[in-house]
Amino acid sequence: MITLIKNIQELLQVRETSIAKVSGAEMAVLPTIKNAFLILKNDLIEDFGSMENLPEIKADKTIDATGKVILPTWCDSHTHIVYAGNREQEFVDRINGLSYEEIANRGGGILNSAKKLNESTEEEIYEQSKQRLEEVMHLGTGAVEIKSGYGLTVDGELKMLRVIKKLAENYPITIKSTFLGAHAFPAHFKEDKKGYIDQIINEMLPEISKNNLADYIDVFCESGYFSVEETEQIMEAGIAFGLKPKIHVNQFNSIGGVQAGVKFNALSVDHLEIMAPQDIEALKNSETMPVALPSCSYFLSIPYTPAREMIKSGLPLALASDFNPGSTPSGNMNFVVSTACIKMKMTPEEAINAATINGAYAMGLSETHGSITKGKKANFIVTKPISSYYQIPYAFGSNLIESVFLEGKII
Ligand code: NIG
Ligand code: FE
Repeated sequence: MITLIKNIQELLQVRETSIAKVSGAEMAVLPTIKNAFLILKNDLIEDFGSMENLPEIKADKTIDATGKVILPTWCDSHTHIVYAGNREQEFVDRINGLSYEEIANRGGGILNSAKKLNESTEEEIYEQSKQRLEEVMHLGTGAVEIKSGYGLTVDGELKMLRVIKKLAENYPITIKSTFLGAHAFPAHFKEDKKGYIDQIINEMLPEISKNNLADYIDVFCESGYFSVEETEQIMEAGIAFGLKPKIHVNQFNSIGGVQAGVKFNALSVDHLEIMAPQDIEALKNSETMPVALPSCSYFLSIPYTPAREMIKSGLPLALASDFNPGSTPSGNMNFVVSTACIKMKMTPEEAINAATINGAYAMGLSETHGSITKGKKANFIVTKPISSYYQIPYAFGSNLIESVFLEGKII
């Protein structure tokens, strides 16, 4: 099946050859072709270029994209979209003055979601999660990482990972799965942290590995959650089972999580709201992708990742949603890109690079996703007619998406 899309006002993120990521000053460069064509063959990108060079082809389907912009679908490398119920009461509690930390200390927060998850059946969790997945697909996300971490029991964690696997089997969106058993200590292990870590390492990990349920291992490295030492121990155990680390660090405090991630060659270190100079230094000359989650900063009213400082230091940066019931009940990557421009002072080019090719890198998907490149997945967004791609971050409350193609088909 050959599909030709012609007269595209502007085709964004075109890369002749597959690149892994963009860093520092390169992030400001977003290669585009004006008045372009795009040819798909089945689920892959076959060819693209300027309309002047459109080859003679026999297309099974031709689409006219006059006035419309086409860009690769968003690569959302950090989400927790498999969960049960919601935490809207905590949202109101925060409006009334409680902090995220105070709510967690009262048994709310992650433990509240864990209680709901363990009380729900696998089918109920699947039904709720698939609605969120369908929503983000229609908002232009074409690859997503999903974490466990609301089970905090052997059964609960495995249940979550099975739901992620089932979503991956049933939807055309590419899904990567991360085991986050080390998201919080369950209440009955509060005085026996070693006991819970032993359970993660000796009971959860072997079962996950045996059933091939995860690609990555995550730990919430933060004061009051997992220490740097505990994080290293869990990363090491995950690596022994073939899981590369992708970890939560520096959300509220800089305690050495970035350095631990780099030391264990983590694929990404995520959150980074609080960055000390030594954290930026540690990321230089590493293969670890820093990931910012601006809609989490927005929702919790906490600082934004210092993107300008990091890019100026030559680092790459990816953007992800963090979609979860507690700190970011939204998976809208258009809003993430917009918020990165408005609040983190990223240019539209930097933000689009961060949410496509760098997001793909943070999921190990740079070779198949994140750019318009021959042979990559035909995953892209077709906008409504717009004046220029600046509209995407500028018109922050509007849905500018006309259609989303995943694996060569409109969803
Ligand atoms: O990435 N920080 C840790 N985990 C999630 C939030 C978890 C929750 O509150 O449910 C995050 O923000
Ligand atoms: Fe998170």
